[in-house]
Amino acid sequence: MDREIILTEDGSHTLYVPELNEHFHSVHGAIQESMHVFIKNGLFKSVKQELCIFEVGFGTGLNALLTLANKGDKTIHYYSIEKYPLKPEEYSLLNFTQQLPESLSQQFELMHQSEWNSAQQIERGFQLTKIDADLTIFNFDVLPKFDLVYFDAFAPNKQPTMWDENLFAKIAAHTNAGGLFVTYCAQGEVRRKLMRSGFEMQRVPGPPGKKEMLFGEKPA
Ligand SMILES: C[S@@+](CC[C@H](N)C(=O)[O-])C[C@H]1O[C@@H](n2cnc3c(N)ncnc32)[C@H](O)[C@@H]1O
Repeated sequence: MDREIILTEDGSHTLYVPELNEHFHSVHGAIQESMHVFIKNGLFKSVKQELCIFEVGFGTGLNALLTLANKGDKTIHYYSIEKYPLKPEEYSLLNFTQQLPESLSQQFELMHQSEWNSAQQIERGFQLTKIDADLTIFNFDVLPKFDLVYFDAFAPNKQPTMWDENLFAKIAAHTNAGGLFVTYCAQGEVRRKLMRSGFEMQRVPGPPGKKEMLFGEKPA
C-alpha cells in the first residue's frame, strides 16, 4: 500500500493513500481529531482504572501515543491490529512528537520498533501489543475482553468489509459490560449495525470540520 506524508491544518502529519484516495486522519488536524474522538470521548469517559483497549488500525501509532500521554494514573493494556504496518522510513518522518512533550519521542520510537504479536512494556502502566493481522478474519478469542474500542478503520465507502455487521457483533461479544466503543464515523447505517450488534449508540459532537461522531456503550 503506497502512502504519502501530508501536513494537516493543526500542523501535524497524516498519511494519504492514493489507491483509496483516503487519509489516515482528518485534514483539519490529525492530533486534534485523535484527541477529540479517541481520548476525550473514549479514554476520558472510561471509569476503569485498569483497562484493555483494542484499536482497529495501528497505522501511524498516533492514537497509542496520545493514549500513553493522557493516561494519568490508569494502567493500560493496549492491543492494536494492523494489516499493513508502516516501514521505518515512513514512521521516522512523522512529526507528532514535535507538537507534544519532547519526552514522548522515545516512547513513540519504542512503540514502532517493538516486536509484533507480543506484549511490550512501553512505560510503567502502558503495555502495547501490536497484532500483525487482518481484522476481517481475526479470532478475537486470543485476546482479553475489551473495555474500550478505538474503531479507526478507513471510511465505510473505501473499505466496507471493515464495517461489516458480523464483525461488529464479534467485537461487541468480546467487549466487557460497560465497555465503550468510539469511532470518528457518524453514518446512520454504521450506527444501526452497531446497535443491532449489542452497543447502545449515541451521536456526539465531532472534531473540528465534522459535525458528529459515534459513541457506544455495551449495556451492563
Ligand atoms: C484510518 S487509518 C488509521 C490508523 C491509525 N489509527 C492512526 O492513527 O494512524 C486505518 C488503518 O487500518 C489499517 N487496515 C486496513 N485494512 C486492515 C485490515 N483488514 N486489518 C487491520 N488493519 C487494517 C490501515 O493500514 C490503516 O493503518
